[in-house]
Amino acid sequence: MFDASFFTDPYPLYKRLRSGGAIHFAPGTGKSGGWIVPGYDDAANVLADLSLSSARSGVSFAPYLPEERSQLQRIQEIFAESMMFLDPPAHTMWRRIMLKAFTRARMEELKPITTTLAQQLLDAAEDQEQFDFVADYANLLPIHVIAHLLGADVDDHQQFTVWARDISAFVSTVGPSLESAKRAQDATLALYGHLQQAIARRLKTPQEDAISEMIRETHELGLDAAALDHALNVSLPAHCVGLLVAGHETSSNLIGNAMNVAFRRPELLAELVKNPALCHTAADEFARFDSSVQILVRLTKAPGTLLGKAVQPGQVVMALVGSANRDERKFERPEVFDMHRTERSLTFGSGRHYCPGTQMGLMELAIALEQVLRRFPKLALVGTPDELVWRPSVNFRGITAMPVTTN
Ligand code: HEM
Repeated sequence: MFDASFFTDPYPLYKRLRSGGAIHFAPGTGKSGGWIVPGYDDAANVLADLSLSSARSGVSFAPYLPEERSQLQRIQEIFAESMMFLDPPAHTMWRRIMLKAFTRARMEELKPITTTLAQQLLDAAEDQEQFDFVADYANLLPIHVIAHLLGADVDDHQQFTVWARDISAFVSTVGPSLESAKRAQDATLALYGHLQQAIARRLKTPQEDAISEMIRETHELGLDAAALDHALNVSLPAHCVGLLVAGHETSSNLIGNAMNVAFRRPELLAELVKNPALCHTAADEFARFDSSVQILVRLTKAPGTLLGKAVQPGQVVMALVGSANRDERKFERPEVFDMHRTERSLTFGSGRHYCPGTQMGLMELAIALEQVLRRFPKLALVGTPDELVWRPSVNFRGITAMPVTTN
């Protein structure tokens, strides 16, 4: 089912799945099979279903042999602590803390910084006639912005880039090798250590930044001394690692996907070049039209029924976001790119795990496109969009490389 043509264009398969029923059994998924839910309303209901669990971090490690898994103990522990893999009550508690990183004021503050970071990356491309829009720009901008959010000095941004690359190579590939998993573990541990130090420094000298805010909110929980120590020194750094994992690949891939959508539509590209501020209006539709997140996974906790089918405990349920976003029952003419739509897509999820970085991701996308088109109004793809190579990932959708010319 998942061959190269699927990675290039999954939408024909999604359409067949939607017309084939509300829920499909996927026998090869997990120990006892999984379920695919392709329609918008049904996928949204899966995400709102309190009987389903998000504690799925182990799914990525399940294919390894037991002795291999034991070599990956630390990365499993750190990932399992991250908010996106928690259920209530721990999820509720940590979400409240982590939302402190995403206040309206902080997002406003990030806008000029994101613009400057985008401009710096484009400065480096200025002297070249050709650069890789994905590797040299789309991949880097979100890492720099998250590094800034997490209080890293500019000097550390390069290090964040290396960590993010090694973690992404593991997270977003189908069947990553043990070597790739170990590299991701090394990167995760190094980042974790960096964040522990950043937290320790702010415990001594609080600042007006996201980490200090999260520390303040953690103190508000009224935990006893041992639990507070664990929360600040063990859990909080893991949640901050989770921010890089959740906010890097998603944003980077979306910027590349959006550029591809624009390259395929000369009239849209011309409109955006003429009025680059429109990139902010178009961001939501870029996110719907070719989302970087294609599947959101939940686990069944108990025997029961889901959309009329009997389910067993521990089965994987896949809300097919990429398909939901093209559901003709929700979006009129879903195959058409229309930046004036008002319906909300499922790109940022729904329900209690709804992406807290939505505004940040959309802002990065809009600024990335706006800045590149302001700087290089003649930006053109080398080759044709059909020659672009897509990442071999089922959950994430993104392009591996995108050579462009600037004049
Ligand atoms: C365009 C970019 C982005 C997309 C498409 C995206 C998408 C999503 C989706 C679909 C979820 C829900 C996951 C689920 O229900 O299982 C989610 C959760 C999350 N996202 Fe994003 N995201 C983006 C950017 C960001 C950024 C920039 C950050 C932070 C730096 C971020 C941090 C998170 C976190 C921490 C969660 C977990 C929330 C929870 O479990 O309560 N995301 N994101």
